[in-house]
Amino acid sequence: MTLIATPITPRFGAEISGVDISKPLDAETVQALIAQQDKWGVTVYRNTGLNDESQIAFARNFGHLESLPPREGRPRLYLFNAGNLNAQGEINRDPSALTYRKGDMIFHSDSSFMDMRTSYSMLRAVEVPASGGPTEFADTRSAYDDLPQEVKDKIETLECEHSLWWSRKQGGAEITHEQIMERHRPIHKMVHVHAGSGRKVIYTGSHCYKVVGWSWEESRELIDYLNAHATQPQYVISVDYAVGDMVIWDNLSCFHRGAGFDWNERRDMRRATVREAPAREGEDDPFGELFRSAPQIAPARAG
Ligand SMILES: [Fe+2]
Repeated sequence: MTLIATPITPRFGAEISGVDISKPLDAETVQALIAQQDKWGVTVYRNTGLNDESQIAFARNFGHLESLPPREGRPRLYLFNAGNLNAQGEINRDPSALTYRKGDMIFHSDSSFMDMRTSYSMLRAVEVPASGGPTEFADTRSAYDDLPQEVKDKIETLECEHSLWWSRKQGGAEITHEQIMERHRPIHKMVHVHAGSGRKVIYTGSHCYKVVGWSWEESRELIDYLNAHATQPQYVISVDYAVGDMVIWDNLSCFHRGAGFDWNERRDMRRATVREAPAREGEDDPFGELFRSAPQIAPARAG
């Protein structure tokens, strides 16, 4: 194997070639791919030859896969629908689905609204609209590095509440602050050390609702500042897809957002998602519970 990493920018993002990820991989190759992921934050694999089954098999090399529990006769799902198709495979015209997707168009870390954080998201292009639909990524490690020292000192020990309903509200959904406050809001550190690189990371994004112990106004001023800082052009890359491409990003070292495309064109994108730690014994992924408690909007399948 001659693994080749072609950087997208000098410190963030790389295209990986020289390895066939549609076939079973030995432990050495898996470790080499994880090392590239830890270094670059975003890795792009072109023309992978992956299908649903081999995408799931590949993703299992990286850890515990998040899933949607079996429901109404359908089996457990390990691939999340991140395109614009409904369960029948047609373009989803449900207004609530459109509103839900608008929330994904603001920079975020997947599932930061869960107690157990998500590490890797692996998004494969099955059908790609002619109008595009790239994903943009923001380098939250380099953004942290470049913060003024007084800001680093200020945020070092802060913790934040996260809420999926807050990011949906920003996307235009009619959700009140009372409804957000009625629901569970996981708490995560505002800055954490990325395990694979030892570098510090800004962990806010669109799900980040409030700083623990701070007023709303002070919280928003700081969170909005950090989100704006981390998504300046010098930290952002944009990745386009062709059919068969797959992009892996580490939610614990970058933000991402979906960019625009023509909703009247089919876009079939399938995401395998790895949790940073395995589920505890006997414990299921709590997505079913989360979406049962949704105020007003609920996606057909979680995105
Ligand atoms: Fe996302």
